[in-house]
Parts: sequence; structure tokens; C-alpha cells
Amino acid sequence: IKLPRELFPDRHNSRGLDLTDERVLAGLSAALRRSVQVDWKAMPTWGDAARRDFIAITNPADQRDVVGHVSWAHEEGALESVKRAAEAFPGWSSTSVHERAECLEKAADLLEDRMENLLGLIMREAGKSAPNAIAEVREAVDFLRYYAQQARDSLDGADALGPVVCISPWNFPLAIFVGEVSAALAAGNTVLAKPAEETPLIAAQAIGIMHEAGVPEDVVQLVPGDGRIGAALVGSPDICGVTFTGSTEVAKIIQRQLAERLLPGGSPLPFIAETGGQNAMVVDSSALPEQVVRDVVASAFDSAGQRCSALRVLCLQADVADDMLDMLRGAMAELRVGATDRLSVDVGPVITAEAKETIETHIEDMRSRGFKVEQLELDEATGYGTFVAPTIIEIDSVDQLGREVFGPVLHVVRYARKDLPQLMQAINATGYGLTFGLHTRIDETIAQVTAQAEVGNIYVNRNVIGAIVGVQPFGGQGLSGTGPKAGGPLYIGRLARKVDPVDDI
Ligand code: NAD
Ligand code: ALA
Repeated sequence: IKLPRELFPDRHNSRGLDLTDERVLAGLSAALRRSVQVDWKAMPTWGDAARRDFIAITNPADQRDVVGHVSWAHEEGALESVKRAAEAFPGWSSTSVHERAECLEKAADLLEDRMENLLGLIMREAGKSAPNAIAEVREAVDFLRYYAQQARDSLDGADALGPVVCISPWNFPLAIFVGEVSAALAAGNTVLAKPAEETPLIAAQAIGIMHEAGVPEDVVQLVPGDGRIGAALVGSPDICGVTFTGSTEVAKIIQRQLAERLLPGGSPLPFIAETGGQNAMVVDSSALPEQVVRDVVASAFDSAGQRCSALRVLCLQADVADDMLDMLRGAMAELRVGATDRLSVDVGPVITAEAKETIETHIEDMRSRGFKVEQLELDEATGYGTFVAPTIIEIDSVDQLGREVFGPVLHVVRYARKDLPQLMQAINATGYGLTFGLHTRIDETIAQVTAQAEVGNIYVNRNVIGAIVGVQPFGGQGLSGTGPKAGGPLYIGRLARKVDPVDDI
């Protein structure tokens, strides 16, 4: 569908940092050093802080580096938090949409002002590079401002749902966490915020900032824990909606758990799931090779491939495949893999030792099945972190991909020009539908291929990562998500009850 222009408000995105400026670089290094001196903490918003046990969160780039400590919620405490959120609901939902929006905008300003202090924490807790950590804060700020404005524009007078559970992944530990929470709050709901178990520390900072900005403590509560705590929250009879970003497998579990649940009035409990992808890029012989290589490297290896949007299978027209692959190998050889405290590093660690093992098992499995595997050599200095070498695996067809491999692994397939429609059918047949890239300079190919691609986000002649809130609404279809797209005009409407048409008259 074509969305009318007026649905996209006239607004500015968040402030960035110029990484070519020496003073900025010196500031970043100082911020990183300061972050090491803090014992960052996360604990449930509700409960007795004095009686808590804490466990260490370590830096995936160097597991000797203890970033901070987290105290998990227990199931009983999590359910008590839901009760408190239910009690706080009448108060928060009866505040005006303008008051709520102002709180979120204040939180955005605080986050933007404190960016420098938070970058070191994000880099160390999530293993992000400096540019990725900056993008993380910026996206969180954008979400807060965007949903605040969307609520003003489209939800004035709409009823909220009640307590909403927001469950998020570790790969965007601030941006997606804040995105889900801010949308639910803007719509007038109270929130149980369940961050990923790997990254609770930055989530705790975000919740602290929201409280400081005027959102009451019982209205947005941090409930840290693993999947069992997520399941306990989802299972509570008092919750009225769930937002989830993470794997397709967990989304299916939650969907089954919610299947029988109805809101008072009989409608199904709203569930927004944003999940994984088997994202493809098709490159034909008219494409500009230098641009293709640059965009492939960014799409497949930025964030060590740990983006739901990341490129998983590159489909090269056979006539140009050898040349493109030679150039790609050359560009990959230039990538620096290592600890992200060095600003020159391109590819950081994967999030945990288990993640590394899963990815490397896939690579070995493909090798043992006879597929050609090429990998970068890792430096010995990466020994204390969970690094995976950027890898290319040549396969014969898209149906050999299997499940999403969440790391720096790029599969490559060759296709004949005459088989392009069949290639697109095979890409659609994976069942995922998140991002898709196309490199061509032929207008008819753009029209045909983009019409055939069954995905949420299509990128032509560019990389396939880094959607901008409010400009490029982001989300998939099929196994990749339920919609509505995050950072788009339809998202917060799903977290409110529709305004009664009688009231409209
Ligand atoms: P995950 O599914 O393992 O975990 C996500 C969250 O769900 C975590 O907070 C986890 O504790 C919680 N959880 C686990 N089991 C649960 C259960 N039974 N009930 C309730 N909650 C439960 O995913 P992950 O490893 O943290 O993140 C990586 C995945 O996220 C990848 O598949 C990636 O593609 C996807 N992702 C999608 C998007 C998107 O916008 N489509 C964005 C980022 C990441
Ligand atoms: N929104 C993120 C991206 O586009 C997931 O890379």
C-alpha cells in the first residue's frame, strides 16, 4: 500500500557525532575509560534491593572485562510487578496524550545529552563498535520522539490496553528496547520491560532515564531475566498485550501461549512480533561492482552480521560472479576483526560463547557437506573474546540455507539471468520476508524483481541495513514478523483500542 505523505510528520532525526573530528575521538576514548570505572547495575524496578543476588555481565570482546552486575527478577516478583502495573494503569492512561508525549521527549533529550556516558557501556556490554553504539543511542532517541509525536497525531482520545509486556533482544539492546517501551507508553499503557538476558545494564539506564523524565516507577518497570521470566510475564492473566523482537522460534512459543487469550470485549490480545530473516541480495551484470562490494560488506559483516536485517545470501548473476567474488575477497581481507574499544575495528565479537559455537557448527557442517568455505584469519589478540571470522560459503541454491545463522556468515549463490523469476520464487519460499536488496541499473529489472519480492523492506542499489525511524518503517512478513512496522505510522495504533466510531461522530 502507498501511505499518504501526511502520515510522515515533518521532523528531524537525532544528533550524531562526527567521527572524523579528533576531539570527538578523544572524547570517545575518555568516555570508554570512564565506563570501565563504573560497576553498572541492573535490577528489577520493584522489590527489595538489599536482598538481591547479583551476577556478572562480561564484555563479549574480552571476557575478563566485567562490565557490571544484574539481579534477575524471580517469577513471583515478576507477577507482583504486573499487579503493580495493573494498579498504575488507570492513572497513566487517563493522563493526556500530550503529557505522556512530553515525558518521552524529555527522556529523548536526556538520552541525547548523556550519549557520551552511555557509549562505553553499550560497546562493552553488547560488543558494539563506536559507530554502531552511536547509532544505537540515536535510534532510541528517534523512537522516543517519533512515537511521542505519533501519539499526539493519531491517539488523542483513544483508549489504551492495560499492562503491556515488551520483550527485546540483545542485538539492539537500547534502540529496540526503548522503541517497544516508548510506543506502549505513548499509547497510554503501563509496561513490563523485559530486556535480553545478555544486555540488561543499558536497559536499566534507559528505564532510569524514563523515570527521571517523569514516567512513574510503576508505569514502566524493568523486569530483567531470561526466557523463563518472559514466559511468566506473558502468562500473567493481567497483561493486555505483548510486543516482542527476537527469534522466530520464541515468537511462535509466545503466539501459542497467547492463542486462547482475549481482551475484555472479546478481541484477541494484541501481539506484535518482529523476528528473524534469511535476507537475500540479487546482483545482476549491469550493477556497479565497487558499489556492490561496499554494500555487501556492510550488509553482511557490520555488527558481525548480528542484525535481523543483515545479508545472509548473495545471489550473483553467473557471468559476473567470479569477478565480483574476487573483489569481495579483496575487500574482506581489509576488514579488521577485534575488540571494539579500538575505533579502527570493523567487525566485533558475537554475543556469547554459545552463539559462536552455533555459528561455527553451521560453518563446519557446510564444509563437511562439500560446500566451498572461505574465512578470514583471526588475529591472536582476539583470543579472550567470542569472535567469529567473516566467512563466505558458496552454495548451489537458496533452499540449502536452512535456518537463520546469526553471525558474519555470507552464503553465495550463482544464477543464470533467464532463471531470475525462479530465483525470486526460491527466495520467497524460505518463508522469511524481512529485507531484500537489489543491485541493477536496468529499470525493468527493478520493477519486476521488487514486485516479486515478498518482504517488508526492499533496498535498491544500496546496503540492506540501518533503517531510519520515521523515514524507513522497518519490519517483515511471513516468518519475519506480524507487522505493523517499527518506526512507522501504524505501529502505536496496534497498542491502543480503536476509538469508538460513535465517539468519532
Ligand atoms: P531470542 O528469541 O532468543 O530472545 C529474545 C527475547 O525473548 C529475550 O529477551 C529472551 O529472554 C526472550 N525469551 C526467550 N524465550 C522466551 C519465552 N519462552 N517467552 C518469552 N520471552 C522469551 O532472540 P535473541 O537471540 O535475543 O535475538 C536475536 C534474534 O532476534 C534473531 O533471530 C534476529 O533476527 C531477531 N531480531 C529481529 C529484529 C526485527 O526487527 N525483525 C530485530 C532484532 C533482532
Ligand atoms: N532496524 C535495524 C536495521 O535496519 C534492524 O538494521
